[in-house]
Formats: sequence, structure tokens, C-alpha cells
Amino acid sequence: MASDYRGPILISGGRVIDPWQNLDATGDVLLQDGRVAWTHVGADSTPDIPAGTQRLDAAGMIVAPGFIDLHCHLREPGQEHKETIESGTRAAARGGFTTVCAMPNTEPPLDTAERVSYVVDRARESACVHVLPIGTITVGRAGRELADLSTLAMAGAALLSDDGTAVANDDVMRAAFLESARLGLPLSQHSEDPEIIGNAVAHEGEAARKLGLPSAPAEAETSIVERDLRLLAEAGGHLHVAHVSTAGAAELLRDARERGLSVTSEVTPHHLTLTDRALLGERGPQYGWPNGPVADTSLRVNPPIRSKEHVNAMVDALREGVIDAIATDHAPHSAQDKAGAFVDAAPGISVFETSFGLLMTGLVHTGQLDLPTLIERLTLGPAKIISSAADALGLRGLTPGAAADVVVLDPDRAWTVRADNFLSRGRNTPLEGCALRGMVTHTFVGGVPVYTAEEQSVAHGAARS
Ligand code: DOR
Repeated sequence: MASDYRGPILISGGRVIDPWQNLDATGDVLLQDGRVAWTHVGADSTPDIPAGTQRLDAAGMIVAPGFIDLHCHLREPGQEHKETIESGTRAAARGGFTTVCAMPNTEPPLDTAERVSYVVDRARESACVHVLPIGTITVGRAGRELADLSTLAMAGAALLSDDGTAVANDDVMRAAFLESARLGLPLSQHSEDPEIIGNAVAHEGEAARKLGLPSAPAEAETSIVERDLRLLAEAGGHLHVAHVSTAGAAELLRDARERGLSVTSEVTPHHLTLTDRALLGERGPQYGWPNGPVADTSLRVNPPIRSKEHVNAMVDALREGVIDAIATDHAPHSAQDKAGAFVDAAPGISVFETSFGLLMTGLVHTGQLDLPTLIERLTLGPAKIISSAADALGLRGLTPGAAADVVVLDPDRAWTVRADNFLSRGRNTPLEGCALRGMVTHTFVGGVPVYTAEEQSVAHGAARS
């Protein structure tokens, strides 16, 4: 399907999974004039199909709402050598993401309405998927003084976060919760206690010990989550725990949900599938992957890749719904940023283009998570957390009248990760050469094809010849 096509599209005969309608059945979806015109399953006669409609045969494929990412780094303004809104959203579209929330640890940070507006404007000019900016919680992300959070909200911030560092000061965080309650905006907290972390670059355990890497225990995360839950109970507001990664934090979240606190959380594809054995080169014996380099700097990420017991706890919490959403934490870096020793490497992984394949390979094809649950955690789960922004964009799954942000997925298509082919400027992936099963074949935003796998492989073929 050509990327300049603007007419009606019938996606026919796919397995339609729509968490908004609790739907999982074979059927057809018609996209017209930027909206989902109808979704049809079952034996009743098919609704009208307008003349001139292009048909996309989705037999054997999954048809689902576009994915919503609550956490990515698009690096604009200030670090365009790592990523731009244009390159980052093209990579997002390839990953099936039709709405992405962009973290504010840019240069300068998004701590004023003007800077938040800059991202909104740049996205209007250059993005191929929806970009929702995230405003900082504190001025300069320095953790001392609250930013003017209501003006950030008015400028379009969908969440607030000092991501990259936790807001460590109790009084500042309490004041932020009061604002969160007033504005109805979630605080996405990077839950790593700077006092416990020190100069650590890895999870405390056998792998870090063998490699002699400075490491920190899981309490680095649980101490902040525990503190935040206490402040939340006192002050109100909405706590969203970013990239949760430890069994202890999952336990705290489970308990807080039972107590009725307004807390949500997200987990990344890497914290669901990779263990710290990967630091020793054992990238994924469980997936049949070849060994990788030892102390591969592309595995340097905050929070660190954890041990198997934590990874298992993440999968359990995601399945149960204690963790609401999968978020990528797509964090592109330049080759230079990752070139030196592990301890010196910039933290972060380029995730957009591998996430669906990795989640299918690591969770669905291994029988740990069913496909409708995976789709829910990539769509409705995150939409509920940013509900007013999602409503404003018309994100209502595949219900009639919803924004036609839709993906077609091949659950079985096998492919091999080659970072050289990434659309992201960040080639920093620990999955180089890994065989994945599961691929996004089409991504539509407002009914317009913003990514198709066929066009992409044609483009790569052309680039090589
Ligand atoms: O690994 C990470 N990289 N974690 C973060 O929280 C920040 C991110 C970045 O900006 O590169």
C-alpha cells in the first residue's frame, strides 16, 4: 500500500483484537476519512464498502489499535545527533506505535510552557505519529524547585517526569503530588534512589560480580517506590512508576492497588525478557540466540537489566494487570556514546523497532503471555493512564468513529535484528543478530499508511544497490 494513499481502506479477514470492545475474532475493519468507520465480525452481512476502497488482505494477521508508548526519548531539542522527532517517530511507526510520549530530558529540558510548545510545534512539522510531550516536574530536572506545572499542562504536557533521575526530595515530591491532584496529571517517577545508586552501572548479583562492575541492589528502586506511595497516600494525585524492574516494587504496587491508591506503572520490553546473564554474553539461550559480547555497552541501561527472579516477577505482574502498560523507554544514543568501557557508556537502548518482535518471541511464543493481554498492555492500558490526552486524540480502539490509528501485525514472521537497518538514529541495541518472530507489517495514523514493511524492504533493497 503506497504511503501517499489517502482513500478508504478495508483491512479484511484478520484476527481483530480490540481491548476497547473486548473483541478477539476474525473480521474486517474499514478506515475512512481518518476514522474507523466500522469493525465487523461474525456472520451478519458486511456493512457498505465505499466505491474505490483499497483492500488489505489480513488473513493470518492481527489487526489491532496502534500502540501507545508512555515513555520514549526523541532527543529534540538539543541532541539531534542521537535522534530527531522525525527519525524517532519513523522508528516508532515501524514498531507499531501511533502515539508516543516524549521525555523531557532534552537540552534544554522541557521545564517551561515555551519548551513544551516547541516539541508540539516540531511534531506538527515533522512527526508521522502523535507526539505527546512530557513536562519536567522540577526546574532544570534539578529536583529542587517545582516547575510551573499548570502552564506545562496547558501547553500540552500529558505527563510530568524528571526521567533520568528520581525526584529525591520528599518536600518537593509532596508538592508535586498536590499539583498532580489539582491538574489531574500523572507523575511518572524514575524510581532509582541516587543515594543507593552511587556510581553503580549494573544490578547487584553474580554477573556484576564476575565482571567487577559497580552495582546496586533492588532496594534502589523499592525505596523510592515505597516513599512515593507514602507521599501519594498523604497528598493525593496520581503516581505512575516508570520502567518498574524489581520483584519488590511489583509487590508494593500490588499492595497499593489493593488499598485503592491512584498508582499505575509501566515495564519495558527489555526488563521483561533479558536477564543480567546477558552481561556475560548469554544473550538469550532461552530464545535460541547466539552468544553476544561480554559486558556489551548496549546493555547499559537505567534501571539495570535484572536477574531472572525479577524478570519473572515483571511478567507475572504484567499478566495480572498490577503493571498496566508496556513502555519502550526508547533511548537512542550515538555509537560514540556507547564506544568505551561499560562503566562509561551512556545508559539506554534503542527499542522502538525491536519491541513487538521481542515481546512476541520472549513472552507470547513462549506461552508466558497471551496475545490479547499483550495488545491490551500496549494500547488500552497506557491510554487509561493518559486518559484526557487519549480522549482528545480520539483513541478509542477500533470502535466506530475512533481515530484510525491501527496496526497490522504478522505474529509469525521471522526476521533478524540488524541495527544498520534501523530508522532510528540510535543503533544501540543488545539484540543485534538475534532472530525474532513477530513483525509489524502496517501502521496507520488517521487512516494514512505511515509505515509498511514491504515499502521498507524495497527502500532497503534500493539503498543497497
Ligand atoms: O537508560 C536510560 N536512558 N534510562 C533513563 O532513565 C534515561 C535514558 C536516556 O535518556 O538515555
